[in-house]
Amino acid sequence: MRKNMNHIVTIDGPAGAGKSSVAKDIARQLKYQYIDTGAMYRAMALQAMRKKIPIQNEKKLLTHLKSTKISFKNKKNINCIFVNGKEETQAIRSPEATHGSSAIAVHKGIRKMLVKKQQDMGRAGGVVMEGRDIGTVVFPQARFKFYLDASPLERARRRYKELKAKNMPANLNKIAASIKERDQRDSARQTSPLRPAADAVIIDTTPLSQKQVCQAILCHIDNVKKLMKKHETTDRHG
Ligand code: DC
Repeated sequence: MRKNMNHIVTIDGPAGAGKSSVAKDIARQLKYQYIDTGAMYRAMALQAMRKKIPIQNEKKLLTHLKSTKISFKNKKNINCIFVNGKEETQAIRSPEATHGSSAIAVHKGIRKMLVKKQQDMGRAGGVVMEGRDIGTVVFPQARFKFYLDASPLERARRRYKELKAKNMPANLNKIAASIKERDQRDSARQTSPLRPAADAVIIDTTPLSQKQVCQAILCHIDNVKKLMKKHETTDRHG
């Protein structure tokens, strides 16, 4: 188990800090599996909306959502999510599911259920897991922890560009307001608030390209692995 922790990369940070594109790229380069935990909160919010369960009612949410099955499949380089066997990759990105995801994520019981699923998915190692509490709660023992941040305006701009590129409706002011609201909710909640793990490498991505962020992360991983190897050899030979 402890050895597997050397093969887990956690990437946390607020919305729009560049986590997804960086995490996908790192996973591709390390030949690890990419796991987007935000998609799991989004999937739960979508299910709640479809079943018309009020997002504030944790008891009802838990009763109706506890048997929800979530899985990921890589299709033509797109990370697709399946909820109870049905593909919901697009649906979980709607503004309603986005808003619902941070609202549902305040519930302790919902978090407990999803954290368990995430631990089951990553326990064997060979994963890059992205979210808000991966380095602090899901895998606090992981060897490689990163926390990406960027200025709120830059984060809003990135989301705007992303949506435009997908031909989805986008309004910069609305995106900025939604990011601000989610930041507030994600950071202020009682259970597992958004914050960097004490031993995470913090990267301000505001002035950096995706390639530069990936380089910084891979370089750090490489240096630590070299050091680990050196220690192993010294331990063996005294
Ligand atoms: O990463 P994202 O924007 O897709 O995440 C959607 C919401 O899910 C986010 O506002 C907070 C919540 N979330 C969380 O609380 N913990 C995680 N590990 C991942 C996401």
